[in-house]
Amino acid sequence: MSRFKAVIFDLDGVITDTAHYHYLAWKSLAESQGVHFDQAFNENLKGIDRMGSLDLILASSSRTYTPQEKLALADEKNLHYQELISTMSSSDLLPGAVNALNAVRRAGLRIGLASVSKNAFTVLGRLGITDKFDYVVDAATIVRGKPDPEIFLKAARELGVAPADCLGVEDAVAGVASIKSAGMFALGIGHPFVLTEADVVITSLTDFNLESY
Ligand code: BG6
Ligand code: MG
Repeated sequence: MSRFKAVIFDLDGVITDTAHYHYLAWKSLAESQGVHFDQAFNENLKGIDRMGSLDLILASSSRTYTPQEKLALADEKNLHYQELISTMSSSDLLPGAVNALNAVRRAGLRIGLASVSKNAFTVLGRLGITDKFDYVVDAATIVRGKPDPEIFLKAARELGVAPADCLGVEDAVAGVASIKSAGMFALGIGHPFVLTEADVVITSLTDFNLESY
């Protein structure tokens, strides 16, 4: 028996490793603007929405950009990203992801997805797991990205479950902060040294055990 009534998953870095594709697309965009970009910097972008990520990258540029230029750069990065994810399939599911979703379903809990990615529906389709969710937040309807609680609160509301009865699953510091400020239990995927705000941290969904949280 689980004490929760719903589990709300993040997508990128939890269910599939799209973080690498985001990294490749941002790296090429940053370098086209003369900005150095590496894996360490990419860590700061995990869970951060597209325009927020672009602002963090351009903060290291020697020039300033108009809002129109920024939109054009964000579009350019997104087109590159969409090209990279166009060949994704169920083989890109991270180990343990489908078992975790099935375990939550078997336990009779509701299942939500809270990703700030505007490509989330495409990625779910390519992975072949769209029908495993009772509700997927449309990132285009979210005003404030993570670490704001808005996206997790919206998922809980649409699932008809009180935030205190929700378990949120996240790989990013900003995402864990979003879950905690929504008043939910946070399960971190990654390292306890990094995800210090999480209630419990596991290495990957292969260690997911709903009854133990
Ligand atoms: C998050 C990723 O899930 O989505 C971020 O962790 C990404 O790296 C963000 O920037 C927005 O994604 P998209 O697909 O809308 O550009
Ligand atoms: Mg993530």
